[in-house]
Amino acid sequence: MYVESDRGRFAWGITGSGHYLDKVLNLAARLDAVDLFLSKAASEVLRMYGHRVAGLCERMRVYTDNTASSPLVGKFYHGHYHTMIIAPATSNTVAKCVCGVSDTLVTNIFAQAGKCRIPTIVFACDGEPVMCSDAPEGPVVVYPRRIDLENTQRLRGFEHTKVVTTVEQLHAALTERIKCLSACYS
Ligand SMILES: Cc1cc2nc3c(=O)[nH]c(=O)nc-3n(C[C@H](O)[C@H](O)[C@H](O)COP(=O)(O)O)c2cc1C
Repeated sequence: MYVESDRGRFAWGITGSGHYLDKVLNLAARLDAVDLFLSKAASEVLRMYGHRVAGLCERMRVYTDNTASSPLVGKFYHGHYHTMIIAPATSNTVAKCVCGVSDTLVTNIFAQAGKCRIPTIVFACDGEPVMCSDAPEGPVVVYPRRIDLENTQRLRGFEHTKVVTTVEQLHAALTERIKCLSACYS
Protein backbone atom coordinates (compact mmCIF):
# COMPACT_ATOMS: atom_id res chain seq x y z
CA MET A 1 0.00 0.00 0.00
CA TYR A 2 2.74 2.52 0.95
CA VAL A 3 5.10 4.29 2.45
CA GLU A 4 8.75 5.36 2.53
CA SER A 5 10.07 4.14 5.89
CA ASP A 6 12.70 6.88 6.35
CA ARG A 7 9.86 9.37 6.64
CA GLY A 8 8.34 7.78 9.70
CA ARG A 9 6.30 4.71 10.43
CA PHE A 10 2.79 3.67 11.30
CA ALA A 11 2.29 2.58 14.93
CA TRP A 12 -0.51 -0.01 14.97
CA GLY A 13 -1.99 -1.08 18.32
CA ILE A 14 -3.88 -4.38 18.46
CA THR A 15 -6.10 -5.19 21.45
CA GLY A 16 -7.77 -8.39 22.61
CA SER A 17 -10.55 -8.56 20.05
CA GLY A 18 -11.40 -11.00 17.30
CA HIS A 19 -13.58 -8.42 15.50
CA TYR A 20 -12.61 -8.67 11.81
CA LEU A 21 -9.13 -9.58 13.02
CA ASP A 22 -8.04 -11.30 9.79
CA LYS A 23 -9.11 -8.36 7.62
CA VAL A 24 -7.47 -5.87 9.99
CA LEU A 25 -4.18 -7.81 9.97
CA ASN A 26 -4.30 -7.92 6.16
CA LEU A 27 -4.60 -4.12 6.07
CA ALA A 28 -1.67 -3.75 8.49
CA ALA A 29 0.44 -6.15 6.40
CA ARG A 30 -0.08 -3.99 3.31
CA LEU A 31 1.76 -1.08 4.94
CA ASP A 32 5.49 -1.47 4.50
CA ALA A 33 6.55 0.67 7.44
CA VAL A 34 4.44 -0.46 10.35
CA ASP A 35 5.20 -1.50 13.93
CA LEU A 36 2.64 -3.55 15.88
CA PHE A 37 1.98 -2.91 19.57
CA LEU A 38 0.06 -5.75 21.23
CA SER A 39 -1.88 -5.53 24.48
CA LYS A 40 -1.50 -8.57 26.75
CA ALA A 41 -4.99 -9.68 25.75
CA ALA A 42 -4.11 -9.26 22.07
CA SER A 43 -1.18 -11.67 22.43
CA GLU A 44 -3.61 -14.26 23.83
CA VAL A 45 -6.51 -13.62 21.48
CA LEU A 46 -4.34 -13.64 18.34
CA ARG A 47 -3.35 -17.22 19.19
CA MET A 48 -7.02 -18.19 19.66
CA TYR A 49 -7.69 -17.05 16.09
CA GLY A 50 -4.74 -19.04 14.74
CA HIS A 51 -2.20 -16.22 14.43
CA ARG A 52 1.28 -16.80 15.82
CA VAL A 53 2.99 -13.74 17.29
CA ALA A 54 6.29 -15.25 16.08
CA GLY A 55 4.82 -15.36 12.56
CA LEU A 56 3.90 -11.67 12.72
CA CYS A 57 7.44 -10.87 13.91
CA GLU A 58 8.80 -12.34 10.67
CA ARG A 59 6.95 -9.66 8.68
CA MET A 60 6.77 -6.66 11.03
CA ARG A 61 8.31 -5.24 14.18
CA VAL A 62 6.11 -6.45 17.02
CA TYR A 63 6.16 -5.03 20.54
CA THR A 64 4.39 -6.88 23.35
CA ASP A 65 3.12 -5.55 26.65
CA ASN A 66 5.57 -6.71 29.31
CA THR A 67 6.51 -3.58 31.24
CA ALA A 68 4.58 -1.28 33.58
CA SER A 69 5.77 2.02 32.15
CA SER A 70 6.01 1.15 28.44
CA PRO A 71 9.41 2.80 27.80
CA LEU A 72 8.75 2.32 24.08
CA VAL A 73 6.49 5.37 24.18
CA GLY A 74 9.65 7.49 24.00
CA LYS A 75 9.69 6.70 20.26
CA PHE A 76 6.59 8.86 19.83
CA TYR A 77 8.51 11.89 21.09
CA HIS A 78 11.39 11.37 18.67
CA GLY A 79 9.51 11.42 15.37
CA HIS A 80 9.48 7.67 14.74
CA TYR A 81 5.75 7.64 13.98
CA HIS A 82 3.61 9.83 11.74
CA THR A 83 0.35 7.93 12.34
CA MET A 84 -1.18 5.89 15.14
CA ILE A 85 -3.83 3.24 14.58
CA ILE A 86 -5.68 1.06 17.07
CA ALA A 87 -7.45 -1.75 15.26
CA PRO A 88 -9.33 -3.60 16.50
CA ALA A 89 -9.99 -1.62 19.70
CA THR A 90 -11.84 -3.46 22.46
CA SER A 91 -14.54 -1.77 24.53
CA ASN A 92 -12.06 -2.03 27.43
CA THR A 93 -9.34 -0.06 25.62
CA VAL A 94 -11.84 2.50 24.27
CA ALA A 95 -13.23 3.03 27.80
CA LYS A 96 -9.72 3.56 29.19
CA CYS A 97 -8.78 5.92 26.36
CA VAL A 98 -11.83 8.15 26.86
CA CYS A 99 -11.13 8.33 30.60
CA GLY A 100 -7.49 9.28 30.01
CA VAL A 101 -6.22 6.02 31.50
CA SER A 102 -2.92 4.80 30.05
CA ASP A 103 -1.97 1.68 32.00
CA THR A 104 -1.43 -0.77 29.13
CA LEU A 105 0.91 -0.60 26.14
CA VAL A 106 -1.90 0.28 23.73
CA THR A 107 -3.67 2.84 25.96
CA ASN A 108 -0.27 4.35 26.71
CA ILE A 109 0.69 4.81 23.06
CA PHE A 110 -2.76 6.29 22.41
CA ALA A 111 -2.17 8.83 25.19
CA GLN A 112 1.38 9.66 24.08
CA ALA A 113 0.34 9.95 20.42
CA GLY A 114 -2.29 12.45 21.56
CA LYS A 115 0.28 14.43 23.56
CA CYS A 116 2.53 14.49 20.48
CA ARG A 117 -0.40 15.52 18.22
CA ILE A 118 0.07 12.47 16.03
CA PRO A 119 -3.03 11.75 13.90
CA THR A 120 -4.79 8.65 15.21
CA ILE A 121 -7.34 6.25 13.74
CA VAL A 122 -9.31 3.96 16.07
CA PHE A 123 -11.38 1.02 14.78
CA ALA A 124 -13.79 0.64 17.70
CA CYS A 125 -15.39 -2.80 17.96
CA ASP A 126 -18.53 -1.51 19.64
CA GLY A 127 -19.88 1.02 17.20
CA GLU A 128 -23.37 -0.24 16.35
CA PRO A 129 -26.28 -1.34 18.59
CA VAL A 130 -26.32 -4.77 16.94
CA MET A 131 -23.32 -6.34 15.25
CA CYS A 132 -22.10 -9.60 13.84
CA SER A 133 -18.66 -10.46 15.23
CA ASP A 134 -16.26 -13.37 14.94
CA ALA A 135 -15.78 -15.71 17.90
CA PRO A 136 -13.02 -18.31 17.46
CA GLU A 137 -15.77 -20.88 16.76
CA GLY A 138 -17.58 -18.71 14.20
CA PRO A 139 -19.89 -15.68 13.86
CA VAL A 140 -21.86 -14.42 16.87
CA VAL A 141 -24.37 -11.58 17.38
CA VAL A 142 -23.23 -8.87 19.82
CA TYR A 143 -25.39 -6.16 21.43
CA PRO A 144 -22.95 -3.52 22.74
CA ARG A 145 -24.14 -1.85 25.94
CA ARG A 146 -25.11 1.80 26.15
CA ILE A 147 -21.83 2.55 27.97
CA ASP A 148 -19.82 0.97 25.14
CA LEU A 149 -21.65 2.97 22.45
CA GLU A 150 -21.33 6.16 24.52
CA ASN A 151 -17.58 5.63 24.94
CA THR A 152 -17.15 5.14 21.19
CA GLN A 153 -19.07 8.37 20.64
CA ARG A 154 -16.99 10.25 23.24
CA LEU A 155 -13.79 9.13 21.55
CA ARG A 156 -14.97 10.89 18.36
CA GLY A 157 -14.55 14.17 20.25
CA PHE A 158 -10.84 13.62 20.93
CA GLU A 159 -8.21 15.81 19.28
CA HIS A 160 -6.43 14.37 16.20
CA THR A 161 -8.56 11.21 16.46
CA LYS A 162 -10.72 9.60 13.78
CA VAL A 163 -13.03 6.81 14.94
CA VAL A 164 -14.22 4.18 12.47
CA THR A 165 -16.54 1.25 13.07
CA THR A 166 -16.24 -0.88 9.92
CA VAL A 167 -13.32 -2.37 8.02
CA GLU A 168 -14.38 -0.38 4.95
CA GLN A 169 -14.19 2.86 6.95
CA LEU A 170 -10.79 1.79 8.31
CA HIS A 171 -9.52 1.18 4.79
CA ALA A 172 -10.88 4.57 3.65
CA ALA A 173 -9.31 6.37 6.64
CA LEU A 174 -5.92 4.75 5.94
CA THR A 175 -6.14 5.65 2.25
CA GLU A 176 -6.94 9.25 3.14
CA ARG A 177 -4.05 9.41 5.61
CA ILE A 178 -1.63 7.94 3.08
CA LYS A 179 -2.72 10.53 0.48
CA CYS A 180 -2.17 13.27 3.03
CA LEU A 181 1.33 11.94 3.88
CA SER A 182 2.24 11.64 0.20
CA ALA A 183 1.14 15.25 -0.38
CA CYS A 184 3.23 16.40 2.60
CA TYR A 185 6.34 14.62 1.32
CA SER A 186 6.08 15.56 -2.36
C1 LIG B 1 -11.77 -14.83 21.82
C2 LIG B 1 -12.00 -13.48 22.42
C3 LIG B 1 -12.51 -12.46 21.64
C4 LIG B 1 -12.75 -11.20 22.20
N1 LIG B 1 -13.29 -10.23 21.40
C5 LIG B 1 -13.60 -9.04 21.95
C6 LIG B 1 -14.21 -8.03 21.14
O1 LIG B 1 -14.47 -8.20 19.94
N2 LIG B 1 -14.48 -6.85 21.72
C7 LIG B 1 -14.19 -6.59 23.04
O2 LIG B 1 -14.46 -5.48 23.50
N3 LIG B 1 -13.60 -7.53 23.83
C8 LIG B 1 -13.30 -8.74 23.32
N4 LIG B 1 -12.72 -9.71 24.11
C9 LIG B 1 -12.44 -9.41 25.54
C10 LIG B 1 -11.11 -8.66 25.72
O3 LIG B 1 -10.02 -9.45 25.26
C11 LIG B 1 -10.90 -8.32 27.22
O4 LIG B 1 -11.87 -7.36 27.62
C12 LIG B 1 -9.49 -7.79 27.53
O5 LIG B 1 -9.41 -7.47 28.90
C13 LIG B 1 -9.18 -6.56 26.70
O6 LIG B 1 -7.89 -6.06 27.05
P1 LIG B 1 -7.19 -4.95 26.12
O7 LIG B 1 -8.24 -3.91 25.85
O8 LIG B 1 -6.08 -4.43 26.96
O9 LIG B 1 -6.71 -5.64 24.90
C14 LIG B 1 -12.46 -10.96 23.58
C15 LIG B 1 -11.93 -12.01 24.34
C16 LIG B 1 -11.71 -13.24 23.78
C17 LIG B 1 -11.14 -14.35 24.63
